[in-house]
Amino acid sequence: MSNTTLLPLLADGDFHSGQELADVIGVSRTAVWKQVNRIAAESGIVIESVKGKGYRIPGGIDLLDANLVRDALNERSRSLLTRLDVLDSVDSTNTEVTRWVEQSGSSGLVCSAEQQTAGRGRRGRQWVSPYAGNLYLSLLWEFNQGAAALEGLSLAVGVAVARALRACEVPAVQLKWPNDVLYDGAKLGGILLEMSGDAAGSCKVVIGIGLNVSMPEAAAGAIDQAWTDIRSISTQSPPTRNQLLAELLNELLPLAADFEQQGFARWRDEWLALDAFAGTPVVLHTGSGQLAGVARGVDERGALRFETTTGVQTIYGGEISLRAAQ
Ligand code: BTN
Repeated sequence: MSNTTLLPLLADGDFHSGQELADVIGVSRTAVWKQVNRIAAESGIVIESVKGKGYRIPGGIDLLDANLVRDALNERSRSLLTRLDVLDSVDSTNTEVTRWVEQSGSSGLVCSAEQQTAGRGRRGRQWVSPYAGNLYLSLLWEFNQGAAALEGLSLAVGVAVARALRACEVPAVQLKWPNDVLYDGAKLGGILLEMSGDAAGSCKVVIGIGLNVSMPEAAAGAIDQAWTDIRSISTQSPPTRNQLLAELLNELLPLAADFEQQGFARWRDEWLALDAFAGTPVVLHTGSGQLAGVARGVDERGALRFETTTGVQTIYGGEISLRAAQ
């Protein structure tokens, strides 16, 4: 039995007997019982067990539904979407859309999943991806004018994420160069762009986004930086993950379709208005060491403007990370 076979069956919040679950999945009642205990321990999802009634998840869980997401797309986004799959479990949604390219063409492929077993973050980090708590999605798009025309794309994606969150009435977030979505200094989401193909011509870009929506404490132990989630920061009832996913796609699909024509210049002012570190003393962490300076926004190519005693330098993404100076 897979790790998650059971959860869709319990998502409605009603009681289901051990025998019923065992019959649907095709295992013994003991195997169901073991699985319930393991999932509860690993995911932090509360699964009640009541003698004579069976198992239930009090209040149910809000599972992703590709049809609901499709229905909530605006006309333009719907026309740009060529495939949307919501998977129960996958290694990484970024990896999955790359696997689809051979069968499904090139642009407008979207994969989301309830869980990632090998979610990837920037700089070789793991992206903690527990079941049904958060949002993990990847959009694949093919661009034709080479890597240079894509400068600043990952920053524009950050703006698109901030816009989608605003549309869902999530309290205002900020962006940290190059790719973090922050709320009050804590990480709410991250963006991972992976590019393949010809750097001077046609290249395929996977835009991967992870958003913490309702991170179970049990899973959060593996996160090695200050984090938050939408549930904790929302002052009213938080949006469903289906609403969030639809709004993200309503921003991302047109952004991907228009970026080569418009470039980062079209997004820069909005990025600057969301900049969490503008005018702040920071330390740049590179592969070879650290450098102290002051963050001065980004230029029209999306490079960080970094001021030191020798003047303002422009810093391009890659393996560099930025932290507030202590
Ligand atoms: C970061 O380190 O801040 C970037 C995190 C990106 C995580 C997302 S989740 C969906 C997609 N699939 C992955 O394996 N990674 C990205």
